[in-house]
Amino acid sequence: QIQPVLLSGGTGSRLWPMSRERFPKQLLALSGKRTMIQETALRVGDARAFRSPIVVCNQEHRFSVGEQLQSVGIEPAAIVLEPVGRNTAAAAAIAARLAARDDPDALLLLLPADHVVQDRAAFGRAVEQAARAAAAGFLVTFGVRPTSPETGYGYIKAGAALDGIAGVQRVERFTEKPSLAVAEAFVADGAHLWNSGMFLFRAGTFLEELERHAPAVLAAADAALAAATRDLDFLRLDPEAFGRSPNLSIDYAVMEKTDRAAVVPADLGWTDVGSWSALWEIGEKDADGNVVQGDVMLVDAHDNYIRSDGMLTAVLGIDDAVLVVTGDAILLARRDRVQDVKGIVERLKQSG
Ligand code: GDD
Ligand code: MG
Repeated sequence: QIQPVLLSGGTGSRLWPMSRERFPKQLLALSGKRTMIQETALRVGDARAFRSPIVVCNQEHRFSVGEQLQSVGIEPAAIVLEPVGRNTAAAAAIAARLAARDDPDALLLLLPADHVVQDRAAFGRAVEQAARAAAAGFLVTFGVRPTSPETGYGYIKAGAALDGIAGVQRVERFTEKPSLAVAEAFVADGAHLWNSGMFLFRAGTFLEELERHAPAVLAAADAALAAATRDLDFLRLDPEAFGRSPNLSIDYAVMEKTDRAAVVPADLGWTDVGSWSALWEIGEKDADGNVVQGDVMLVDAHDNYIRSDGMLTAVLGIDDAVLVVTGDAILLARRDRVQDVKGIVERLKQSG
């Protein structure tokens, strides 16, 4: 049985104005009826293959997270509350320690709570393959064939196939967030995969590698757990101890450094839903290529993503746009500019 860990610490600022600090993207229903954390939990909801998930989230989101999971019948093994976000290395360290207390051989499946995986069957097969490599001491990533030189992703150069473990290859090199020139070369050479940000490893293996490559993260996690308190169903990490953790992603802290990395190349229909254009790409389109949600009327409009929460919204003669209407804010953007929505959020924060 595999122990899923749901990482729910992101802010999703490029999905403003839907995504807000109090309701970041993992707590929203962006691509279907269920919220992203609900979809993620259900993806690993089969009790024959998976244990109940460990959830690591910001303390501000504890009630939303708890209620959303309960309402789809998921009873987490633990909901760990972070007083501040210290990035994914620290969150993974906490989950690995918790799991290793019961069983150092526990296989942890780290899942960002805000990604879409369209092909569940392929996901299940990839997890099975990865689990065999993880049991043999590898830190396994899931690799996606790149379609553009994204600089916000990690890149994996896949090497030799693992002996006797079908579908898994060694990682020759892991490069987190390369420059655009390097990303372009990676896409062109055909030998690189995107790192999907999902990981599978033995709890004990991960803790060893963390001790070797980022001991300060592990020390902070241990101290934060030792002084943690119970609060209802939640496990509250000690703020002072946890705050001392370096702010490092698992990619920089461990994956770029370890020589025990492996990859399962997998066609999962994966997207990290980084921006509104990603939702347009995976969304169901009308005959004119529009993805529409809510009370929207279109006339002579093509290839738009239009979403309105509550207000009747009419669009005439517009192509390739994103329009998001919420109760207190509206975003109108060219579809090829939505990566820069992040900048709007930063400016709004500065101006208070
Ligand atoms: N609990 C918790 N605490 N979760 C966190 C924290 C934290 O402090 N920081 C991030 N997360 C969660 C986010 O919610 C997200 O689901 C996931 O961990 C990954 O964090 P991101 O901040 O989105 O990472 P990234 O996009 O910069 O890069 C990662 O994901 C890419 C794919 O989407 C890397 O793994 C890249 O290599 C990868 O390509
Ligand atoms: Mg991300």
